[in-house]
Amino acid sequence: MSESLVTVFYIGATILFILSLGGLSHPETSRRGNLYGMIGMALAVLATILGPRVTMAGVPWIIVAMVVGGSIGIYAARVVKMTQMPELVALMHSLVGLAACLVGFANYIDPAAASGLTSTEKHIHEMEIYVGILIGAVTFSGSIIAFGKLSGKIGGKPLLLPARHWMNLLGLLVVIYFGWHFLHTETVGAGMVGLTVMTVIALLFGIHMVMAIGGADMPVVVSMLNSYSGWAAAATGFMLSNDLLIVTGALVGSSGAILSYIMCRAMNRNFISVIAGGFGTGGGTVAVASGDAQPVGEVVPISAVETAELLREARNVIIVPGYGMAVAQAQHTVCEITKLLREKGINVRFGIHPVAGRMPGHMNVLLAEAKVPYDIVFEMDELNEDFPDTDVAMVIGANDIVNPAAQDDPNSPIAGMPVLEVWKAKTSIVMKRSMASGYAGVDNPLFYKENNRMLFGDAKKMLDEVFIALKS
Ligand code: TAP
Repeated sequence: MSESLVTVFYIGATILFILSLGGLSHPETSRRGNLYGMIGMALAVLATILGPRVTMAGVPWIIVAMVVGGSIGIYAARVVKMTQMPELVALMHSLVGLAACLVGFANYIDPAAASGLTSTEKHIHEMEIYVGILIGAVTFSGSIIAFGKLSGKIGGKPLLLPARHWMNLLGLLVVIYFGWHFLHTETVGAGMVGLTVMTVIALLFGIHMVMAIGGADMPVVVSMLNSYSGWAAAATGFMLSNDLLIVTGALVGSSGAILSYIMCRAMNRNFISVIAGGFGTGGGTVAVASGDAQPVGEVVPISAVETAELLREARNVIIVPGYGMAVAQAQHTVCEITKLLREKGINVRFGIHPVAGRMPGHMNVLLAEAKVPYDIVFEMDELNEDFPDTDVAMVIGANDIVNPAAQDDPNSPIAGMPVLEVWKAKTSIVMKRSMASGYAGVDNPLFYKENNRMLFGDAKKMLDEVFIALKS
């Protein structure tokens, strides 16, 4: 395939990637978005393999690598549970970082990569290598630690070393010094010294940065590492002079950065303070009494039959799903109950918090899988004002995202985080197994409110009982 035909394929792939991102922005178009992405990637891989830069002798190696990598990918995608997705994503980001490092070193050692370059071009090429390996190494080690934290292999408590900001600053100065040294060396051997020192510092920085971030901020960290992995891929594109990789990397990098910003807003966190670290607990289940607003009142349990009665008598119902619905895999029963209630003429809608569950769009994916109609699924901002006119707000396995302490208690760790105001409904029903706290580890005064009822038990089991009671 000629260079110009490869360019045509690359432009086609770029357009498909942009369409893919556009499609993924809404549940209704997300399947199409995925398809565009897959076709774009297939075009990109085909054009690269058949293009003039790959010799025929290299093709079998590429095919072997694709079969091995593809098989591992298919296996991982089949066995991973929905709740383990964030850790799988973190692990995948680490591979992008590792690839950027390996490509960087290979590019530096390969005498052909810099042959025919003028002195200025050679410097620019070396700068691309240095920056590419730097971003790649931070992404690699940071993502490994994020994987460890999300999978519970490493504790979620932030590790706050004394003078940690000074240590980071010192590391940065050393990296700049060795960068200068690297650009002024004549031989590959001498250049490897600076490159290796910088890589070690970047790896340590990645570990230190993510270790300092508390469990409650981990969602932002995953999307931030997603952004880094995009920039690492873009840097690899510069090293290899591959325009498509530069564009694709920039798309991933910028969309990851935008997602991090949206998530910070949804959690009322400042991006800089997230990176500076120190917020949040291990994401455990120990209820922490929060500041002034100690929960007062009585916890009133309710049975599945009573829940069904309340639902039957309601005109307006809002369902708020959370992480517990994902754990219990209760989305299909939720959909059956929704169908039944709508057949009875009851207005049922879903309220989705931007950080409900454990990954962006977690609830939307589950509800779409259960075939809940898209037009009754709303973002938090779209229906938060409707709770006072709602008869029953049914909270299924959610906790932090419906915690009134976020509004009422300025000392709460989640103070200022926007929440779904379910307590403003005539009756709220919270479905969970115990009084344990959610991801942020804070107690929830909602459970003690006069108009709140607790339906204790596994969400799937309890909803099955509610469904049977509704049908009878
Ligand atoms: P959480 O606050 O974590 O609360 C989930 C609740 O579900 C728990 O309190 C738990 O109580 C209950 N639960 C667990 N298994 C259950 C089951 N089988 N049946 C019924 N209930 C069950 O979840 P949320 O309200 O969705 O809030 C999300 C939290 O996760 C936020 O703090 C957010 O910042 C954080 N986070 C979000 C993301 C993204 S991107 N969405 C990523 C990582 C972290 P019991 O143990 O008593 O049952």
